[in-house]
Amino acid sequence: MTLWSGRFEEGMDGALFALSESFTFDQALFDVDITASAAHVRGLARAGLLSEEEATHLVATLEEIRGEFREGRFERHRDDEDVHMAIERRATELVGDLGRRIHTGRSRNDQVATALRLFVRASLEEISELTLDLVDALVETADRYPEAYLPGYTHLQRAQPVLLRHHLYAHAWALLRDIERARDALKRVNISPLGAGALAGTSLPLDPAMTARELGFDAHFANSLDATASRDFVAEALFVWAMLGVTLSRMGEELVLWTSAEFGFATLGDAFTTGSSMLPQKKNSDVAELARGKSGRLVGNLTGLLVTLKGLPLAYNRDLQEDKEPVFDSVRQCRLVLRALAGAYRSLEFHVERAAEAADDPLLVAIDIAEELVLGGEPFRRAHEIAGRLVARSLGEGRAFNEVVDEEFPGRFRDLFLPRAALERRRSPGASGPSAHDDQRHRLDDARRRARNEK
Ligand code: ARG
Repeated sequence: MTLWSGRFEEGMDGALFALSESFTFDQALFDVDITASAAHVRGLARAGLLSEEEATHLVATLEEIRGEFREGRFERHRDDEDVHMAIERRATELVGDLGRRIHTGRSRNDQVATALRLFVRASLEEISELTLDLVDALVETADRYPEAYLPGYTHLQRAQPVLLRHHLYAHAWALLRDIERARDALKRVNISPLGAGALAGTSLPLDPAMTARELGFDAHFANSLDATASRDFVAEALFVWAMLGVTLSRMGEELVLWTSAEFGFATLGDAFTTGSSMLPQKKNSDVAELARGKSGRLVGNLTGLLVTLKGLPLAYNRDLQEDKEPVFDSVRQCRLVLRALAGAYRSLEFHVERAAEAADDPLLVAIDIAEELVLGGEPFRRAHEIAGRLVARSLGEGRAFNEVVDEEFPGRFRDLFLPRAALERRRSPGASGPSAHDDQRHRLDDARRRARNEK
């Protein structure tokens, strides 16, 4: 028997039930739905629709049901369509007619929106916390190799030397922005739709402000249609996680490169790599590849929802049931990748000498020669041309760049080719050299502190 059997003569066809049911996935909302239902019950008491004793009894019953679920004792009935109906059905089993009062003044439309907002709120916070731990892992890795440096690349061609710290902090800054985006999205997520009913509110004297406060929302809805129909808060959260996924994917790609024999800049710990079922010599960076690979579905979850939303008339449409699985999936994937990647960085061994050797490639000094010529009064375009010709000569004659430079400008640029010299010379604010670094570290630590307090 369904909750709407009053109006129907026939039960639901099995094929429709299979299509329609969502308990298999929306049981992830069990906890938040109980919390929201308890607030609604207290709201009913406040409105005089339940006595204090009835409300207390119902809330205790809901808590009992929460316990059953947490301990794996909750039994789903065959015709529980979704988590909301399953909880109401169980409450009615436990307390009879009193259970039949829970849904007073409420629709599953405002109920599901409320539960999902609570879920998304907690998930944004959880993922931010894990992201912050990955930032910590990056900083710890940087701290283990304060002097290490490597070539910085553009177009994946060696460009200029950069400190390893500088390089790892670049990822940290991107992750901190991902956290900031989550925090910003929370402002729009944290609005209560409870009390909007099916679409138009209710004739009963409910107080949405009270339940909003009780559930820790910043405010309650202003428009009942908007409250039940809008899912831009879901799209925004999915974007936050898709963007985070893209950040993680780029980090993953870099680890794949660094741990290849061709680069040889880093090795991941055995616990964070896998072997090959066939090739005994292999040590694979699967963790990094999965960090890269998971971004596809994170982006897919966002685009899927946007497409679902685009043609919907006001207010609730059943299409909206499709908003949940992408959320559950994105949260799960982000959680998995963040944990594994933090561990992978903590296990990372950086091959300081190999990276330094690559970064001390004399050609990476060409810009320093041009800039020295500029300091001597040469216009930059001409200086660039002179340095470019020296590069061409070195490559054409197959001779070391520094040798060619020294031949044309005896003694003048010799110091530029000393190991680390190009690195030390990057002193401008925010630059890759050591002297600019204290300032960056202060700012980074500030941003991390802020993220920790506000997440
Ligand atoms: N399981 C449904 C959902 O996720 C709950 C809302 C159903 N509302 C309705 N009018 N059929 O959207």
